[in-house]
Amino acid sequence: MARPDYGALIAGLPDAVIGVRPDLEVFLWNAAAEALTGRSATRAVGRAASELFPPETRLVRHLAETLRSGETRGEAESSLETSDGRAIPTSLVTAPLLGAAGEVLGAVAVLRDLSRLKALEAEVRRGERLVALGQMALAIAHEIRNPLAAVRGAAQLLERELGEGAWSEHLGVMRREIDRVNRVMEALLDLGRPLRFSFAAVNLHQLLDRVCLLAEATARQHGVLTVRRYDPSLPPVWADEDRLTQVFQNLVQNGLEAMAGGGRLILTTRLSANPLYAKVDLGGGPRPMVEVLVADEGEGIPEAIRERIFDPFVTTRPRGLGLGLALVHRIVEEHRGAVRVETTVGKGTTFAVYLPVAR
Ligand SMILES: Nc1ncnc2c1ncn2[C@@H]1O[C@H](COP(=O)(O)OP(=O)(O)OP(=O)(O)O)[C@@H](O)[C@H]1O
Ligand SMILES: [Mg+2]
Repeated sequence: MARPDYGALIAGLPDAVIGVRPDLEVFLWNAAAEALTGRSATRAVGRAASELFPPETRLVRHLAETLRSGETRGEAESSLETSDGRAIPTSLVTAPLLGAAGEVLGAVAVLRDLSRLKALEAEVRRGERLVALGQMALAIAHEIRNPLAAVRGAAQLLERELGEGAWSEHLGVMRREIDRVNRVMEALLDLGRPLRFSFAAVNLHQLLDRVCLLAEATARQHGVLTVRRYDPSLPPVWADEDRLTQVFQNLVQNGLEAMAGGGRLILTTRLSANPLYAKVDLGGGPRPMVEVLVADEGEGIPEAIRERIFDPFVTTRPRGLGLGLALVHRIVEEHRGAVRVETTVGKGTTFAVYLPVAR
């Protein structure tokens, strides 16, 4: 029987495998390690692990401890800090490579990328929160609607009976505030009940241009310059045009609100190269996805609400309802797409929307 080809086996593993000598010099760096770290084997092998990663990373620490103690170390939920400061969730196991006499010849680390799993888990948790919230919100909305309509009717009646005078200002406030509560409830009911979608091939650039046009006045008020970076060869997307317009209206509006001191709002379109959202199957085989980036140079999303921005009623805006992003998320889901966010406080925020192409 032929000897198994361990080299090919390790090269083809879906887990990242990194091997180091006793001085932490890398001698093994498989294809999955290249994909996970974004660094090729030729740029890693022969260098010290402590140079390739920030020295305090878990990976380097565990490798060093395994080399010292000859023991295996494992962490089911760890993370890998990359040189550009990102943290990728991974599982991590390190094991010693022992010689015939039990001496430590090196160590090997096996890392598994958990980002996809983490993203799915977050979606499930969000889904559960939304269902609970949605049910409660619907129950409350139904309870409040009728009494509120009665109060509004009474206020209107009083306005008419009393005419212009000391009371009319207060009654006006009353009516406007009731209308506001009503709008909140309508939006809520919208989130709770099934939305109707009609899909067709949609020209994304025309749609985005329209959204920009509608936002022009606000943009000028905020001193915001809109920049468009479209890929002209982009195919149409498979979408409900009105709903998709709502999506980008909300994202653009949020971007403008975040830039009280002015800045640039940059809209980018291209085919998605994101491995998590490159292809989707709507029946008839996988089709490519388009990536739309809505980037602002605004204040960024505060850490405290980052996890929850797609939940209803999460807002930091004095007049905000906190429903914009909940709706965005819901609509994009119905398109079998995805929406992701990256943000840095004080620098800006980028929302990425992934949508299937039409065909
Ligand atoms: N581009 C952005 N930059 C900074 N913060 C943002 C951005 N987009 C959203 N946020 C934060 O997320 C919160 C939720 O946004 P969302 O659009 O859901 O609600 P809202 O804008 O507050 O109210 P509305 O229902 O009117 O849209 C905002 O209040 C804000 O704190
Ligand atoms: Mg909003």
